[in-house]
Amino acid sequence: MLKLRVGVIGLGVGEKHAEAIARIPECELAVVCDKNPTALAAVAGKFPGVVARERDTDILDDPAIDLVCIASYDDCHFFQTMRALERGKHVFVEKPFVLHEEEALRVRAQLRSRPNLRLSSNLILRRSPRFLDLRQRIIAGQFGNLYHLEAEYNYGRLEKITEGWRGKLPFYSAVHGGGVHVADLLMWLARDRVLEVSAVGNALVSQGSGFGNFDNVVAVLRFASGAIGKLGVNFGCRMPHFHAVALYGTKATFLNGRDCAWLYTSADAHVPPLILDTAYPGVHKGALIASFVAAIQGTGEAEVNEEDVFASLSVCFAIERSAHSGLPVKVNYV
Ligand SMILES: NC(=O)c1ccc[n+]([C@@H]2O[C@H](COP(=O)([O-])OP(=O)(O)OC[C@H]3O[C@@H](n4cnc5c(N)ncnc54)[C@H](O)[C@@H]3O)[C@@H](O)[C@H]2O)c1
Repeated sequence: MLKLRVGVIGLGVGEKHAEAIARIPECELAVVCDKNPTALAAVAGKFPGVVARERDTDILDDPAIDLVCIASYDDCHFFQTMRALERGKHVFVEKPFVLHEEEALRVRAQLRSRPNLRLSSNLILRRSPRFLDLRQRIIAGQFGNLYHLEAEYNYGRLEKITEGWRGKLPFYSAVHGGGVHVADLLMWLARDRVLEVSAVGNALVSQGSGFGNFDNVVAVLRFASGAIGKLGVNFGCRMPHFHAVALYGTKATFLNGRDCAWLYTSADAHVPPLILDTAYPGVHKGALIASFVAAIQGTGEAEVNEEDVFASLSVCFAIERSAHSGLPVKVNYV
């Protein structure tokens, strides 16, 4: 089988994409790109023989490239994804893969007209050993029926929106940028879909910084199964980055902690919980790419497929809309 020739655009977390590609035997890391020459030189120097380019179109328009990994700023993802698809390339794009529902609809239409092309996004919590173990336990029936699910994306990196590029974009959504991880996580764990959301938000922590959107959002969720739950996005919390996940089933309760998680099977305070010390997050940021490459080559399934990419962001579009309108919003699955 011919190797896939791969280009990586944006070399922050994109360096991790490049590392992952370089380790996949079915791929050749052909080109890396960053518009910042210093970042480009620093990363390109780690991959001898790889071509370095400052312009994204040098990758997007290169007929010899089969797969593009996009890890540029959020407001570049739509243009770069569309251009790559139009030029017949597969796309692995960082989250959020687009900023607006209309853009998602256009990517969807493009994919429908090119059924041979694959798209995935870096919803990396799926590869965390802690959550992989949790999902196996759910599938094995240890939780009975899940009836209440919560996940908070406690970013703890306010400076990313008050000082970095995120806060300088004309539109940045903490829900799309961070909430998408936990929206996907909850639906993947529960094998369920969110039907409706009701959200509120505030920006008390970033007040006065010039950031123009909520830095803290809470959404109540209603799932297709009848389960309910809560999704939170909290960029300004005074604690290190953490995913506060709590799942309540008819047979067991899961609470995530940093060093370990707890699995309760009894309401009796004398019955100790099972300690789950699986690694958390414990995953390389390029870990999803190998299964995506297998899906492209028809030898396996992508851990995050097209439906997952559209579904998780569709939930985020609804949360953003609800937080700004003050009204419950039904999720429109793009
Ligand atoms: N999945 C994850 O866990 C995860 C983690 C971090 C970041 N991200 C996502 O990755 C993307 C990049 O974030 P980051 O933290 O790596 O940012 P970063 O600032 O560390 O790196 C981004 C790099 O991309 C370059 N760049 C931006 N736009 C470009 C363009 N149009 N052409 C060429 N180069 C361009 C910048 O010069 C910069 O060097 C964002 O969409 C972010 O949400 C995802």
